[in-house]
Amino acid sequence: QFTPRVFSGIQPSGDLHLGNYLGALKRFVDWQSKDVETVYCMVDLHAITVWQDPKDLMHSTRELCAGFIAAGIDPEKSILINQSQVPEHAQLAWIFNCVARMGWMQRMTQFKDKAGKNAQNASLGLFAYPALMAADILIYHATHVPVGEDQKQHLELTRDIAAKFNHDYGVDFFPMTEPVIEGAATRVMSLRDGSKKMSKSDPSDASRINMTDDADAIAKKIRKAKTDPDALPSEAKGLDERPEARNLVNIYAALNDQTVDQVLTDVGGKQFGEFKPMLADLAVAKMAPISTEMGRLMNDTAEIDRILTRGSERAREITSPILRKTYDIVGM
Ligand code: ADP
Ligand code: NA
Repeated sequence: QFTPRVFSGIQPSGDLHLGNYLGALKRFVDWQSKDVETVYCMVDLHAITVWQDPKDLMHSTRELCAGFIAAGIDPEKSILINQSQVPEHAQLAWIFNCVARMGWMQRMTQFKDKAGKNAQNASLGLFAYPALMAADILIYHATHVPVGEDQKQHLELTRDIAAKFNHDYGVDFFPMTEPVIEGAATRVMSLRDGSKKMSKSDPSDASRINMTDDADAIAKKIRKAKTDPDALPSEAKGLDERPEARNLVNIYAALNDQTVDQVLTDVGGKQFGEFKPMLADLAVAKMAPISTEMGRLMNDTAEIDRILTRGSERAREITSPILRKTYDIVGM
């Protein structure tokens, strides 16, 4: 009953990194070439759940848009939007705030991680974030959401909200959206600490490859990445208990569109002294052109703004009837 439609988003809250590229952007591009409508979003309303300097937020939103396009998202083929320009996201989020239960929200591990020890001082928006995320997805009746592993719990909540709305109002209006978490790099780890996720919010710049890094910076960060002294195994199970080694092999596999076992068939037995330069060459070949293209696109921010305005007009052709119907169901 629901036409397949893909939605996903990224926060404009700082530098895009290799985890965002492999876990999200590269897979968004794969979906774009399938016979399905794709909607990709810069989620600025999510970004301000923690303080953002207004100038930086505007810059990050445009740079993120440049990142989407440089990674291969075609604004003609996909609908490319900035969340705050499509007001139906926030409008549906309010309805969902009234559907979701406090107890559900309190179980969200990302809130606990991001709020830290001083949760009483976190914004109400940070707590309500997953209800807005559910609205981002369901305002398009999206059926599939490609994301990294860290978003799995939020996607479960999205289904819970859809199910409760459908049940409470006796309708079959919102779909049970499927998370699509696949590939060798659903969780790219920090280059400095194999137990931490590669993240924009990590204070160490050496922990991640930024999508704006040039060839030298990329190669240097890989050369310096933490590893162990052992040779590479010839099978994936040889990477158990070796998080740093596994991370570098995962990155290689994802960049080269291979499985981990395929990579290990080729490089098993090599030392990191030999494997790291191979990985550095591959990462430079794949990532440096994206960085260059982002720089080129950022020279014309007026064009980026036009692309986002056009995207929001196309998006509202979908979101405005779905919000109208939601209000009808609710009695508004
Ligand atoms: P961040 O976690 O860096 O703040 P976002 O929350 O904006 O990034 O996440 C945007 C997308 O990138 C999501 O689909 C998320 O799952 C994915 N993602 C973020 N970090 C990683 C990572 N280290 N490995 C794989 N995917 C990631
Ligand atoms: Na995240």
